Amino acid sequence: MADSPRDLARLLLGARHGVVLTGAGVSTESGIPDFRSAGGIWENVDPMEVGSLSTFVSAPERFWSFHRPRFSAVDIIRPNPAHLAVAELERRGIIKDLITQNIDGLHRRAGSPHPIEVHGTLDFGECLRCGARISREEMVARADDAPDGVPRCTQCGFQIKSGVVLFGEQLPASAISAAFAASEAADVMLVIGSSLLVTPVSTLPDIVLRQGGALAILTESATPYDDHCTVRLHGKAGVQMTEVLTALDGLGMPAAR
Ligand code: APR
Repeated sequence: MADSPRDLARLLLGARHGVVLTGAGVSTESGIPDFRSAGGIWENVDPMEVGSLSTFVSAPERFWSFHRPRFSAVDIIRPNPAHLAVAELERRGIIKDLITQNIDGLHRRAGSPHPIEVHGTLDFGECLRCGARISREEMVARADDAPDGVPRCTQCGFQIKSGVVLFGEQLPASAISAAFAASEAADVMLVIGSSLLVTPVSTLPDIVLRQGGALAILTESATPYDDHCTVRLHGKAGVQMTEVLTALDGLGMPAAR
């Protein structure tokens, strides 16, 4: 019989150190496409081309013409019930750590205090040559003012890159270290909205399993870990996670620990 949100609520309630790992699927109900579903961001392009550090350096116009629309989208999106449910689980002390591959900032805006943003963030821009940092707003304004659409550093003239990690680029050392530490501390990991196909994040559930922990996955499509789950939910994260909160109330979970 298929697992239910109540099964997930029970698993989370019994966790000593629950950790949530999210991917783009937690934000699709906020209007942001994910990467690999139908209509996803990578659907008609080669991610290794438009999303790579080498393209950013060798063909910044190509890079910026593809990514520029995503910068405007960030200003109009809002957290959805899935983000809000994760923040509520953290507030109740049921979830101790949140790891996210997302760069949209929606977990923070939903009230999650310390999301571990392993793929960086859209919040700022920086110059890879001299290290100068600017706000997203300033970076977008420079891109829109530039004839070739490429924002440049006013210190050294090199093109500005957003704080989002590109293919071929190192992940933020403090974030990935925190993500591994959280996974090593976890006895329960709930994955929401990730295909679990991109390393090193895709190795984190394996850490939990190898130390005898339990894995729960909530996505619409399959993942490589589906046969290793204690609880496997399919469906919309916003709907399912709202039902998990309802189930917790029904299990007599106090509103705050
Ligand atoms: N509810 C539940 N699951 C959903 C929803 C939803 N509303 N929408 C999409 N999904 C699921 C999809 O079925 C898929 O399993 O979320 C997953 C999204 O997978 P990807 O598009 O591969 O996104 P993600 O796992 O975050 O990608 C990882 O790849 O390109 C890089 O840096 C990029 O951080 C990204 C990384």
